[in-house]
Order: sequence, then C-alpha cells, then structure tokens
Amino acid sequence: MKSGERCPQQIRQVLLFFVFLGGSLVCSEPWRYSVSEEMEIGSFIANVVKDTGLVIFDDHKPYLQLDQQTGNLVLNEQLDREALCHLTEPCILHFQVLFENPLQFFRAELWVNDINDHTPAFLDKHILLKISEGTAPGASFPMDSAQDLDVGKNGVQNYTLSPNPYFHLKLQDSDDGRKYPELFLDQSLDREKESEFTLIVTALDGGSPSRSGTTLVRILVFDINDNAPEFERSVYEVQVPENSPLDSLVVRVSATDLDAGIYGELSYSFSHVSRDIRKTFEIHPISGEIRLKALLDFELIQSFTINIQATDGGSLSGKSAVLVQVVDVNDNPPEIVMTSLTSPVPENSSPEMVVAIFSVRDQDSGDNGRMVCSIQDDLPFLLKPTFKNFYTLVAGLPLDRESQAEYNITITVTDLGTPKLKTQHNITVTVSDVNDNAPAFSQTTYTLRVRENNSPALHIGSVSATDRDSGANAQVTYSLLPPADPQLPLASLVSINADNGQLFALRSLDYEALQAFEFGVRAADRGSPALSSQARVRVLVLDDNDNAPFVLYPPQNGSAPCTELVPRAAEAGYLVTKVVAVDGDSGQNAWLSYQLLKATEPGLFGVWAHNGEVRTARLLSERDAVKHRLVVLVRDNGEPPRSASVTLHVLLVDGFSQPYLPLPEVAAAEARADPLTVYLVVALASVSSLFLFSVLVFVAVRLCRRSRAASAGRCSGPEGHFPGHLVDVSGAGTLSQSYQYEVCLRGGSGTSEFKYISSPHFLSENFLGLPKAGNHC
Ligand SMILES: *[C@@H]1O[C@H](CO)[C@@H](O)[C@H](O)[C@H]1NC(C)=O
Ligand SMILES: *[C@@H]1O[C@H](CO)[C@@H](O)[C@H](O)[C@H]1NC(C)=O
Ligand SMILES: *[C@@H]1O[C@H](CO)[C@@H](O)[C@H](O)[C@H]1NC(C)=O
Ligand SMILES: *[C@@H]1O[C@H](CO)[C@@H](O)[C@H](O)[C@H]1NC(C)=O
Repeated sequence: MKSGERCPQQIRQVLLFFVFLGGSLVCSEPWRYSVSEEMEIGSFIANVVKDTGLVIFDDHKPYLQLDQQTGNLVLNEQLDREALCHLTEPCILHFQVLFENPLQFFRAELWVNDINDHTPAFLDKHILLKISEGTAPGASFPMDSAQDLDVGKNGVQNYTLSPNPYFHLKLQDSDDGRKYPELFLDQSLDREKESEFTLIVTALDGGSPSRSGTTLVRILVFDINDNAPEFERSVYEVQVPENSPLDSLVVRVSATDLDAGIYGELSYSFSHVSRDIRKTFEIHPISGEIRLKALLDFELIQSFTINIQATDGGSLSGKSAVLVQVVDVNDNPPEIVMTSLTSPVPENSSPEMVVAIFSVRDQDSGDNGRMVCSIQDDLPFLLKPTFKNFYTLVAGLPLDRESQAEYNITITVTDLGTPKLKTQHNITVTVSDVNDNAPAFSQTTYTLRVRENNSPALHIGSVSATDRDSGANAQVTYSLLPPADPQLPLASLVSINADNGQLFALRSLDYEALQAFEFGVRAADRGSPALSSQARVRVLVLDDNDNAPFVLYPPQNGSAPCTELVPRAAEAGYLVTKVVAVDGDSGQNAWLSYQLLKATEPGLFGVWAHNGEVRTARLLSERDAVKHRLVVLVRDNGEPPRSASVTLHVLLVDGFSQPYLPLPEVAAAEARADPLTVYLVVALASVSSLFLFSVLVFVAVRLCRRSRAASAGRCSGPEGHFPGHLVDVSGAGTLSQSYQYEVCLRGGSGTSEFKYISSPHFLSENFLGLPKAGNHC
C-alpha cells in the first residue's frame, strides 16, 4: 500500500486529466495501482470515479472489481504474487478500465507487492555427506542453496550452521548471482573418534520477521587405514610343559585395530622367525591361537622367542613377541653308561679293588636331573662316587668264590623328579677261582672190611675227597702214603685209583696172617701250588672158616698113639683124658665142639662137648675089654663147619698107682731164694706156685713118658702145625694174641720141662682139665 503513495497523486492527476479532457480521450499513461499480495477479497484498491465501467485484465481474469456506486476498485480475489509472477519482479498485472458513458478506456497496472509469506526450503531435507577422515582441513563442500518463493529481501538471505568443531559455513556467490552455502572443514576428522555426526544448516530469509528452513547434513566419516593393529601386550610370556601334546594351545594372542572394515580385519602371522619356531609352532591367522606343531623338548631348547605380527587389510601391521619358556618335565630317565667292568674277579683280590666304573646322567634339569645311585645292600660291594656323576664299584669285603661265585649286581639310579624315574642296570660279576681249598676227605678214617681169601684185584672200597675250588684246582688225585710200619708190604697189598679213589686188594688176604692193617691216603688237587690232605684207611680182614680144628692133644702123627690107662676101680665120671684142639680161625669159626664119634664099647666113655673131656660113663667091670679105641670128632662152628677127628686108645688096668714125681730143682731154688723181708707174703704165693708147678710138671712128665713109650723117646711139640706167630683170638675159649707159648718136650732125662712164657692165664680152659693121673704116655 505504501507503493500506492505516489499513485493517488498520479490517479488524481489522471482523474483531473480525465476531467479536463472529458471526452473520449485514451490516457496514454496507464493508471498505476499497487496492492500487496494475499490481501483479502474486497480490499480497497483505489477509487476511480463514480461511474459505471468495467475492469478487464489482459488475461481476462477478474482480479479487481469496480464498484459502480462508489467507483472503488476492490480485490475480487486474493492475489498470490508467486503464482502470478513467480520470480518476476516487480509483479505487474495490466488491465483496462472501460467506462461506458462516455465510452472511455483507461489502461492501468496493478502492481502486486511481495510479502514474506514463504519460508526458505532446502530441496533435500536430509543430506548425506561422506567425507574421508583423511581429508585435510580447509576442504570445502558446497551445498545446494535453499529455495524461497519470496523475492527480494524476502528471499534467502543468509545460512547458518549448527555449532560444531569441524565445519564452518560460508556463503558463496554463484555465477547466476545467487548465494549458496559451502561447508569448510576446520580440522581433520577422526573416524575412530567420531565416525558420524549431523549438522543442521539453516537458511534464513530477509523478511521481517524472517523465516528459516533447515536441512540435516549427516556427515559420515570415511575410514582410512590410519591405525596400525596393536597387540594387547608387547610381550606374551608363557610357560609350556615340555610334555604338552601336539596341537595344545600355547597362547592366544590378540591385537586390535581401530580402523573399520577391511582396515580393521587382522590376520596374525609369525614375523621373521627361525625354522625351529616354524617347525614347532603354528599360529592361526584369524584366531591368533598359537599351537604346538611339534613336541617340545626342554633338553633341546629351553625357550623360544616368537615374533608375531598382526596385519590389517591395509597392510599396516603391529608387532609383539611371545616368550615361550619350556618347563622341564621329568621325562628322561637317568642313564647308566658302563665305562669298564672287570669280570671275573679273582677271589683273593684285595678289597678296594675296582670292579666297575660307570657314569650316570639325566637329561632333565633341576631335581629332575639330580640322581641317587645305589646297589643292593647284601652284596660285598660298595659304590663310591668319584667325580661328577662317575662311580666306581669296589669290592668292599674279601670275596670267596666257594661261598658265592657270581654276583648279580643291580645298579639303580633314581632321579629326584616327580614322579621319580629310575633306571636299572644289571651287571654280573663272576669270581674266579684261586686254589685256596685243599681237597677234603669225606671221612677222616675209612674202615674197610675184606673177607679173606679174596680174589686178587678186588675192589674193596673207595675213599673220596672233594675240593671246593673249581677247575684244575678241584681236580683231585689220590695216592697211597708210605705206611708207618715199614714191615707192612703195602704196595703189594692195595692199590688206589688215582682218579677216583677206588681201593683194590692186590692179592688174596689171609686173615690168619694179617687181620688188619692201616695206611694213609692222600688227596691232592692240581692247583698251583697244589694243596692236599690225608686220611687213614683201616682195612679189616674178615675171617673165613678156612682152617679145620687142629688137635693138639693127643698128638696125631706119632707112630704110636698115646694110650690112656684107666684103673678098673675108677668110678663113673673118672676123667680119662682131655682132647685139646685149636682152630686157626677166629670167632664162630674157632668155636670148637667135641663129640664121640666111635667107641669100641659105646656107653662106657663119654666126651664133654665143650671142653673135650673124656670120662667114664659108668663103673668098670671085669667083663669090660682091656683095650678100647675111641674116635673123637672136633668140629668148629663155621659155615660150613670144618672138623678133625682124633683116635684115643684106652687101656683098662688093675692096680694103677701114682708115680713118684720129683720136684724140679729150679722151682726149689727159686723158693729158697725168696727174700726174707717179704717171706710171709711170698710164702703163700710160693705154696700156690709150687702146687701149680707140680701139676704142670706132672703133665709134662706124663707127656714125655707116653712119647717115650711110643718109640724113640723123643718128644716133639706141635710147632709144625700150630702157628708160631701172633694169633688173634676174639672169641672166648680160644687162644688170644697175648698168649705166647712154646711147648717143648725133651726126652732122654726122664724129666720133662714145660715152659710158659708170658701169662698165667695161659692155663685157662683147654689146659685146666689136663689129665692129672693114671695116664701113661
Ligand atoms: C548472516 O547471519 C550471520 C549470523 O546470523 C551474520 O553474522 C551475518 O552477517 C549475516 N550475513 C549477512 C550477509 O547478512
Ligand atoms: C644271576 O642272574 C642269572 C641270570 O638272570 C641267573 O641265572 C643267576 O642265577 C643269577 N645269580 C645269582 C647269584 O643270583
Ligand atoms: C635286573 O635284575 C633284577 C633282579 O634280578 C630284575 O628284576 C630286573 O628285571 C633286571 N633288569 C634288567 C634290565 O635286566
Ligand atoms: C707130626 O707130623 C708132622 C707133619 O705131618 C711133622 O712135622 C711132625 O714132626 C710130626 N710130629 C711127630 C711128633 O712125629
């Protein structure tokens, strides 16, 4: 309406002009009116004149209406400048005012003035702006300008940006003179800090009040690979037992990369590592797990330093290292290495002799590698540590092969690990023999019994000796020792088998000649020097019944046998004579019994079985024949028995008297010579001796007489038949060894001597019952 200020003047001038001209003049200058857009219908524009007329617009639209009554031009409809003129400025509607009376035309213009009725608007309410984070500050990002249908001051005048640290906004002039906003980067973006944010750009128009429109600018910060991967730790330290199985997890490494996408995708790998490590470990490229690919051995490698890296998709990498300490596990048993072993060991070797040298070792370390070495307790050996895991095995006690010839020594080495591992080594030490044992006889005295009359070369027994040594030291040879009695013809009696100790009789033995003998045997080994021992062998010759009884009395081989005289007046049981016999054998073989074999008149005489006495069995009578012949059988008790017979001649005589027997002078002289001091004591003994002697003399005289009566008067003893040397008598009633006697009968003088030499016991049994009287030889 302000724009209309000039117009009423003009209109008035126009009206005046109309008035002055009056008629049908057409005003060359159009009437000019102005109106703001959007005025209400019926709003007053101008008063033309009170006249009837028409308003005709060029486009024939009835924007205005002329009030016929008042002549006021009023809005017929609301005018929208933007619709009518768009951006054309000024917006002028041309019309003609037609008056009817008189018919007149007036050209007029209606200027439509803009009001700020539109808000600036951005074409895009949301704008996405992708900016790489690497973009340098200063970079600009032009934006579409906002649209405002209003024109002039009411159009977009200014843009503002929501406060932010990254951008500021500047207005730029475009070629067509319009202004557009441009964003300028103030500082570099960091996707890792802020990957996305929104700015609000506001467009302001110049109206009053001004209107504004906004748009949201979403800034997406492009990632660039500006971050290298980084491991959690610069060094990973792990301890792995050396016995960990294959594929066991050693450690899991992990790195991070702030970048996104492929720049944040990491792959793990080893970084310039040795072959050993490549052989032993593997790393999973994605998970970062490091696992064992080969078994660890502490004894080979104790630790590994594995350089690892993580690489992102943009080839940036981060580094770290894994320090793997292999932990020793007691997985190695100790070992024993024998350096030397002496076997066999001579049994007399000195104690402290070194039998074996060995070393022990354990590949583990620490306690796992510390060892204890031992052998069995019950051995005569000692273990001695020398230096640095070396041991010697020495003989601690003297060795004796005979008590133990072999030792199985178990060397046990145990380490101190957990669990303990042990190793055993068995060695066998043999003890070699030394000739330290003499052969030993099984008995100190051997008694061998041999029956006499043996066949020559008879095996009579064995001696045996053993030697506890071995080999040649135990080979025993036997030999005979020279007899103690040089008289003994040992070499011809026995021989010995040198190898086995068998004894042989070399010739037939005779009990009657040799009842027993003794000798020594020697057993020697073949050692060097040889050792020997001795034993006694006693050989007893056993009696055989090889001797028949021998009748001593009456003598058998006289040309005239002895004749016994028996007085007819003799009573029953009168001792006629006594048969005396001996047997060279002994024992049962010499046990003699007597028996009447034949008699001229049976029943007159009897023989006592045990002592050989011949006695009358009854009273003699006149009718009995004068001459009698008796055959007496003497038999021993041997098996089979041997016997001898003797023939007795008996004469029955009348008036038989005791012949005078003078005492031997020797005896009388002896009696006189007895010392006076012991007179009383000796007297009794003398009387006894005298009596005994008389009896003996009597017997001798009788024997002599009978002999003389037989023939030449020369009496011979039975020496030829009776053994003249030692006789062993073991049984009762026979002669014993100690009875040495000699019988000598000397004829010629009529006086007979019977001498006994050794013992008064001689007069036992056989001789006690010799005929006392009435015998006539
Ligand atoms: C645009 O607006 C800002 C802040 O509102 C102001 O500082 C600036 O001077 C204005 N620019 C123009 C050309 O009016
Ligand atoms: C030693 O060992 C051997 C073989 O094992 C065995 O024949 C022998 O009897 C053992 N000796 C001893 C004394 O144990
Ligand atoms: C060593 O000897 C012992 C006892 O005789 C036996 O148990 C062990 O098995 C032997 N060791 C070896 C390695 O022969
Ligand atoms: C008896 O005979 C033996 C041998 O027949 C003879 O040696 C001995 O002298 C004889 N004795 C007498 C007394 O004739």
